[in-house]
Amino acid sequence: MAHVKTVVTTPFAGQKPGTSGLRKKVSVFIQPHYLENFVQSVFDSIGNTVGKTLALGGDGRYFNRTAIQTILRMAAAAGFARVMVGRGGILSTPAASCVIRKYKTFGGIILSASHNPGGPDEDFGIKYNIPAGGPAPEAITEAIYARSLTIQSYKLVESDDIDLDQLGTVRIGTMEVDIFDPVADYAALMETLVDFAAIRALFASGFKMRFDAMHAVTGPYAHEILERRLGAAPGTVMNGIPLEDFGGGHPDPNLAHAHDLVAALSGPESPDFGAASDGDGDRNMILGRDFYVTPSDSLAVLAANAPLCPGYTRGLAGIARSMPTSAAADRVAAKLGIPCYETPTGWKFFGTLLDAGKATLCGEESFGTGSDHVREKDGLWAVLMWLNVLARRRESVADIVTAHWREFGRNVYSRHDYEGIETAAAEGLMDHLRGLPLVGTELDGRTVSVFDDFAYTDPVDGSVSTKQGIRVLFEDGARIVYRLSGTGTQGATLRVYIEQYEADPSRHGLDPQVALVDLIATARRLAQIEDRTGRAEPTVIT
Ligand code: G6P
Ligand code: ZN
Repeated sequence: MAHVKTVVTTPFAGQKPGTSGLRKKVSVFIQPHYLENFVQSVFDSIGNTVGKTLALGGDGRYFNRTAIQTILRMAAAAGFARVMVGRGGILSTPAASCVIRKYKTFGGIILSASHNPGGPDEDFGIKYNIPAGGPAPEAITEAIYARSLTIQSYKLVESDDIDLDQLGTVRIGTMEVDIFDPVADYAALMETLVDFAAIRALFASGFKMRFDAMHAVTGPYAHEILERRLGAAPGTVMNGIPLEDFGGGHPDPNLAHAHDLVAALSGPESPDFGAASDGDGDRNMILGRDFYVTPSDSLAVLAANAPLCPGYTRGLAGIARSMPTSAAADRVAAKLGIPCYETPTGWKFFGTLLDAGKATLCGEESFGTGSDHVREKDGLWAVLMWLNVLARRRESVADIVTAHWREFGRNVYSRHDYEGIETAAAEGLMDHLRGLPLVGTELDGRTVSVFDDFAYTDPVDGSVSTKQGIRVLFEDGARIVYRLSGTGTQGATLRVYIEQYEADPSRHGLDPQVALVDLIATARRLAQIEDRTGRAEPTVIT
């Protein structure tokens, strides 16, 4: 039996997992005992780990490999029988969920700060996913946090670093470490859901695509699936090699950060279809030639067209969307006669609905789309679903979306982010809003019908989540939502979500910033954004 060493430690403040795990600057994570305290708190909070299997991998960012070596030593001390590690320490978040489910592991640890920049001066993150494959629910993350506040020691097995790049099995003490191909299981799952033959035929007919992996984790997945299995032209995948600092970029697939892709998709000679994914592969952005598909519309279009895809020919049980996501999906659900669930922000809230078979597709305005095939949002899956729809309909992205609007009406939508504002100012702004007596009053010609701080009771397990975002709903169906981001690592980020329904097709082509101009002004004035934050304009508009 290998020697198990017990190391005395003291708690760190603030090891509280946020929307999606614990995210801090690398400088915080590399403090002695910091990572170890958190990992031990996880192992102490998830039940008996003896004899179990754990999945482990990350998005390849700086500190990924070092953290994996530490976690392996600690897993051995915690009595795990086996840890499955993606080769090179690589495992996208959806692929981790796939592997956890396929091999029925005792959950997994995913190392990622998602779309946040990477590198020695940037962010790192860690989260635990449960055996169902999804992010740990609040009961577990609260337990982990509580444990981190009282921890006095952690355990590890003393051993040399293992070679993470060599496929095969090695041992740390008695624990097996299986280095496996992080792409194979995921690609096999995609082949069961999406019509690969139809997409191959589409590419063979001259259809052109660009996929921006943003030097993050989806590079190897996209090369294998898009270029090798589906026959997309070499060069379809750009920025396909994962780098520890993502090439200095911000691996967030939106109009601001995926600017190279946006530029590549403009002009009459540009490719037919563009897509990007984030640091850990769970987000997606969908583009047509000179055309941007909002994540809310993407969910609605995929829901309306899902039966074209082999995994969904039997239709959908229901759709779920996060509260700030537009109601475009609700209109599809209403037409299909299926329920549409409105959950708080955060993919974890979809888990119970998916497990209970109440929802088949889920989506969030924050560039997340997914289905019941795994328990995370899945960037490449969304891209493949779009390719499947394009291959079957043989229309352009723009034609598909505008036809969708003609059928269902358009939920004109935009999100304005004010990043890096002072935390006190942000909280003051939210408190100011909460105190307003708005119901029944008129704001710039619109009457407020509902004004609340969104609360959610999970229809499956009855758990209650409060203070999930301030909603101003107007009688004419327009809506303003204010939320503070749960994923930032510096200061606060205020998100303002603005939405208005447009039935008239002659107005569907308007730029949302133009169509929403009055509502945007109302939103700014009501929250006193400039006075309270010093910002006249948002830093990012999507
Ligand atoms: C992560 C989660 C998403 C969530 C998003 C919200 O990406 O995985 O489920 O929608 O964060 O981020 P925010 O910064 O708005 O809290
Ligand atoms: Zn992500």
